[in-house]
Amino acid sequence: MCGIVGYVGGGRDAKSVIIEGLRRLEYRGYDSAGVAVVADGRIECRKKAGKVADLEAEIAAHPLDASHLGIGHTRWATHGGPTDVNAHPHVVGGGKLAVVHNGIIENFASLRAELETKGYTFLSETDTEVAGALLFDVYVNQASQDLTRAMQLTAQRLEGAFTLLAIEVGQPDRIVAARWNSPLVIGVGEGENFLGSDVSGFIEFTRDAVEMDNGQIVTLTADGYSITTFDGASAEGKPFRVEWDVTAAEKGGYNSFMEKEIHDQPAAVRDTLYGRFNEEGRLTLDELRIDESVLRSVNKIIIVACGTAAYAGQVARYAIEHWCRIPTEVELAHEFRYRDPIVTEQTLVVAVSQSGETMDTLMAVRHAREQGAKVIAICNTVGSSIPREADAVLYTYAGPEIAVASTKAFISQIVAAYLLALYLAQVRGNKFTDEIRGIIEQLQEMPDKIASVLENADQVRELGQELANSKSVLFLGRHVGFPVALEGALKLKEVAYLHSEGFAAGELKHGPIALVEEGQPVFVIVPSKSSRHSLHAKVVSNIQEVRARGAVTIVIAEEGDEDVVQFANHIIRIPESPGLLQPLLATVPLQIFACAVAEARGLNVDQPRNLAKSVTVE
Ligand code: AGP
Ligand code: GLU
Repeated sequence: MCGIVGYVGGGRDAKSVIIEGLRRLEYRGYDSAGVAVVADGRIECRKKAGKVADLEAEIAAHPLDASHLGIGHTRWATHGGPTDVNAHPHVVGGGKLAVVHNGIIENFASLRAELETKGYTFLSETDTEVAGALLFDVYVNQASQDLTRAMQLTAQRLEGAFTLLAIEVGQPDRIVAARWNSPLVIGVGEGENFLGSDVSGFIEFTRDAVEMDNGQIVTLTADGYSITTFDGASAEGKPFRVEWDVTAAEKGGYNSFMEKEIHDQPAAVRDTLYGRFNEEGRLTLDELRIDESVLRSVNKIIIVACGTAAYAGQVARYAIEHWCRIPTEVELAHEFRYRDPIVTEQTLVVAVSQSGETMDTLMAVRHAREQGAKVIAICNTVGSSIPREADAVLYTYAGPEIAVASTKAFISQIVAAYLLALYLAQVRGNKFTDEIRGIIEQLQEMPDKIASVLENADQVRELGQELANSKSVLFLGRHVGFPVALEGALKLKEVAYLHSEGFAAGELKHGPIALVEEGQPVFVIVPSKSSRHSLHAKVVSNIQEVRARGAVTIVIAEEGDEDVVQFANHIIRIPESPGLLQPLLATVPLQIFACAVAEARGLNVDQPRNLAKSVTVE
């Protein structure tokens, strides 16, 4: 999720190189940071919750010896809150080894139990410390203290996503690292070499880089590097020259964080799905503190959220009612407590929030709890206020979302809400394990399907440039497509300052169709034909209605859906998917469109006027 830097060399002081790299990675957002170096035959580590400045203050108060070898980390917590103890690096093996890690170790609980039976104890709540202890155990007991071999054997045992770096006190000339479903790049210097989550970690010192492939191990020394696969076979990376300037490097080469985060969505969904099953194949929730019997007594669900998070709740409502048969409302958090809602001990309130600090949503949580309801938070920020005050939490693992306009968090919120719905269906017996497993497998196909939508981004970007001077844009959808239409309109308002409105397609004839005139751009999200044919047919006739009145119709439809062709001015194709999962695909072109219009209008895509990333006032 966050930032990693490694340095081995002759001419520079490792901690200074690492701090500089961590500072360049600050843009990625994080909640704590740390550095470990090998100096005078021992590992020295300084780490602190907060910003890199807090870490620097810690190092000023407790200096690190000069060293030519070190690793550093900025953390976006997934397992264990943002505290000094949970910050990386983690020093294990009685001070012999230090590790830093980006990602999620999906099988950390079973590994921790295995290591505890061997007498290992743990200081932190993190999955990373477990990976470090495993590496040490393998290093001593299976790899004859060969750090590269130990990393190979350890990587074979880890499941989930990990970029894992290790330094060992007896080998002050090398860093060994593994890469699996998380980024890692080598920086090649003169008599010195670097590692980074991305090139901005070392771009200050070299522009010669080598991209590592998934499933590779690198052993890095001052004189060079060697790469193997996890099973020890020799392998190669992909050398390249960094042409980006530093600012572009921070955005991974994209024009804005919003564009980068739109393209982060396959990984965000994949990471949000990690670690949700136990050994018996049953769904498990993070930090669950609600007894199953309480969940079985729930007779109403109220989802409270604001903005985009509320639209994620509206999408989830269709699935919750369909899978769990529990009456479900979605209420704007700032309206919730003023409408004197009917809340009892059988009410489950679900608070959806990327930041976990939205005051309107936090106040709704407090009101719900005062009324006796149980509250589950769906949140992207570990340790933030809303999860802390809720009874239980289901974290999204979208990683830090920097752009004010929410994209990957929205998609991840839908996935997390679906996991919650499936968990409720499991606990209440509405669905058998195999039915749940079937839906999970459909969800696990979504990252690749989202990636294929992203492959057509240029088509949508061109459309955004073509329509950038429109006076208004309308969005139509039905069923789960209706909140997608609302979200598409919100994105365009937020970043392009362009008046836009989302409608339930069936509502058109009850008034809004009066807005349609010659040349009016209208997006239509067309349901999957495979879900309900009647729904599909009705939306096709809605396209016909607006087209007949002069609208420019931009139709988002599944591959192979030929019914829409005759009424569409533009067709944006998405892969076929189960109806309830279609929002994970249909939303993506709307995000790209809004971003493209904003860019064409020369606006600040990441920091739109009048808006803040987290609205911490009521
Ligand atoms: C989304 O693009 C907006 N930035 C805004 O609507 C946001 O979703 C809303 O303020 C809720 O924020 P939260 O998810 O952090 O609670
Ligand atoms: N899962 C690890 C933790 O919670 C790493 C998180 C990250 O990638 O920053 O510490």
